Amino acid sequence: MSLIEVKHVRKVFETNVRREGRFGALRSLISPEKREVVGVDDISFTIDKGESVAYLGPNGAGKSTTIKMLTGVLEPSGGEILVSGLVPTRNRKLSSYQIGVVFGQRSQLIFDLPVKDSFDLLRYMYSISWERYHKNLKDYSDLLEVGHLLERPVRTLSLGQRMRCEILAALLHDPEILFLDEPTIGLDVVAKERIRAFIESINREKDVTLLLTTHDMHDIERLCQRTMIIDKGSLIYDGSLQYIKDHYATERQIRAVFSDSHAALSAARVFIGMPDIAVHTEEQIVKVTYDQHLTDTSELLRLLLQKADPRDLTMQDESIDALISRIYREGINANPRPVYATVGGSRR
Ligand SMILES: Nc1ncnc2c1ncn2[C@@H]1O[C@H](COP(=O)(O)OP(=O)(O)OP(=O)(O)O)[C@@H](O)[C@H]1O
Ligand SMILES: [Mg+2]
Repeated sequence: MSLIEVKHVRKVFETNVRREGRFGALRSLISPEKREVVGVDDISFTIDKGESVAYLGPNGAGKSTTIKMLTGVLEPSGGEILVSGLVPTRNRKLSSYQIGVVFGQRSQLIFDLPVKDSFDLLRYMYSISWERYHKNLKDYSDLLEVGHLLERPVRTLSLGQRMRCEILAALLHDPEILFLDEPTIGLDVVAKERIRAFIESINREKDVTLLLTTHDMHDIERLCQRTMIIDKGSLIYDGSLQYIKDHYATERQIRAVFSDSHAALSAARVFIGMPDIAVHTEEQIVKVTYDQHLTDTSELLRLLLQKADPRDLTMQDESIDALISRIYREGINANPRPVYATVGGSRR
């Protein structure tokens, strides 16, 4: 049996629609008109112990709804969920011992009290032995570098400091699964990197299973071997990030710098009329974008060096960030070819 089992799960929200017109508010109160919003539509997956899974999707795709159902906050409208062998909504208390949750947009710490008071409360709530509590607090506060913050009221902490304390709070009771809903949102690069390093270490060393939602591709590249993509409530991909890179990251760009815009324009003309190639000029810079599966890089470089005299040449592959956004827009079976454009024009 897997640690997390999700079978044909649906979540439909019922919302009240406000009626139009003069007495709309009153009529809505007397006979409310309901509308159904599908949060999650028939999703199935399993996650094994020790896995680290990125759960991706555009805004409103159903990521947080899924996490709320896995953590027992929301009851599914249909289907079955088992987390550590328990139905989260039916065994909320027992289930909470097995899981830790961090919502980047919400806090489980008490705003006006020192950080340590919230930790003490969690010790009491989870009946953590003093010995285990002190050990976890010491180990994790060293790793997360929050020892000096424990006596400070939560409201005085910076976002990055608070987020490190939130993660510590979620781990005090040694859960076997950690759900992280956008743990690095709004943080600067250094703070993000600190959090990633810590999360990576608890997955590797403590075998804590991770399910992470994020809009930051660096989080995934660093932390997750497996990626699930949800779009409009349906799972559209479940597999490795590498597979996506190998099969969809086929776009590459050559950037050539010339002595002036005149030289750049005549170099750009070399590529006009070639199929499946987009050429873009910006003063003395020429950008040639193409699909590596359709066009040979060495052939393009040979042409460029034969017919023009660039001062500098660099090559760049499509970022994983741009790639995933393209998959959101076009679907997982999207044609990975770049769209053709003309000299000086913008692509797409
Ligand atoms: N309590 C609710 N009542 C009505 N609709 C809801 C509720 N919670 C979520 N939804 C709807 O369900 C859908 C999925 O929302 P969800 O919060 O799961 O998206 P998400 O993938 O987490 O997006 P984001 O990246 O913006 O956090 C959206 O259409 C949202 O409006
Ligand atoms: Mg969300």
